[in-house]
Amino acid sequence: MSDNRIYIFDTTLRDGEQVPGCKLNTRQKVEIARELERLGVDVIEAGFPVSSPGDFRSVQEICKTVSKPSVCGLTRAVQKDIDVAADALKHAKRPRIHTGIGTSKIHITHKLRSTQEKILERAVAAVKYAKQYVEDIEFYAEDAGRTDNEYLARVLEAVIKAGATVLNIPDTTGYCLPNEYGEKIKYLKENVKGIEKAILSTHCHNDLGLATANSIAGIQNGAQQIECTINGIGERAGNTSLEEVVMIMRQHTLLDFETNINTKMLNYMSQLVSEKMGVPVQPNKAIVGANAFAHSSGIHQDGVIKKRETYEIIDPADVGVDQSAIVLTARSGRAALAYRAKAVGYDLTKDQLDIIYVDFLKLADRKKEVDEVDLEILLSSKLVAIRA
Ligand code: KIV
Ligand code: ZN
Repeated sequence: MSDNRIYIFDTTLRDGEQVPGCKLNTRQKVEIARELERLGVDVIEAGFPVSSPGDFRSVQEICKTVSKPSVCGLTRAVQKDIDVAADALKHAKRPRIHTGIGTSKIHITHKLRSTQEKILERAVAAVKYAKQYVEDIEFYAEDAGRTDNEYLARVLEAVIKAGATVLNIPDTTGYCLPNEYGEKIKYLKENVKGIEKAILSTHCHNDLGLATANSIAGIQNGAQQIECTINGIGERAGNTSLEEVVMIMRQHTLLDFETNINTKMLNYMSQLVSEKMGVPVQPNKAIVGANAFAHSSGIHQDGVIKKRETYEIIDPADVGVDQSAIVLTARSGRAALAYRAKAVGYDLTKDQLDIIYVDFLKLADRKKEVDEVDLEILLSSKLVAIRA
């Protein structure tokens, strides 16, 4: 695999499903997993098997369904969790156990009521225990974003020795700034002995709206895997959005990274997950929102009609959207009206356009949007009047 290849670890079915009211049944999870495989993700985090019999079953069924991506099951650093995850993953072609523990002072003192040394021992013990079941062990240092770098490096060094193949550095609370998160990854790359044997992974939450920026800062500083979800769904303000990081890597000339994602499926995947989970996508959501390729102001519409790239940095077809939308509102200009009129069969002369535009603006001031039916009525009645 080339150095610039970034692995996409999709956790829609685990961290994403932690959104209140988003619970999926096994059939729905299997359907999404099948589509994630077609999308080209490298890892599917299928669930947290010990958490419920339903989640156990879902992980099991996903293992039987997909063959290309690794299938991953989450555990705490607890033997019972690991036993159950290993059992759920036993039919997977490429099983991965994802185990870990909190490493920040606040987690160690208040949640785990322990000490740094004891947590380090538990981390190592969990990885060794999981290693008896599968080769591929991902270790997460929960709240790594707020963990002291020196201690974090010690923990990671120890878990690599114990057999961890992937090291997840979660910014669990979404607190890090991009440069801070990037520097953390750089520090680990430079200070953890044996780091070349493992893959560093980003796992960023969006509490301050920085999940995508932090993940990109992570890969710019040496991480090779991004953990993310479709539509950015997940705990609280969500996780890094898959479609955003993938399109940033694809579009940005300043970056030189590759993924295996079939970007033409992104819009479809967004709608599928939104519909199955019952969570609408905000209209202004980057890449997949309903307005991501819609233009409503006259200045923009004029530009896009003349050359799409004047106001679009992504070709909508590349993410599976039919075409850019020219939306008719009271902010639209003559160019947009003529363009939409032509699309419904009216090639207006300049004089006709000038006359109809006056009535169009009156109508648009009354309505939020002039749709195709409104437009047809306006054009047919007005043209009859002009001709008469
Ligand atoms: O945000 C987080 O720290 C997590 C871990 C369980 C990986 O989701
Ligand atoms: Zn998380």
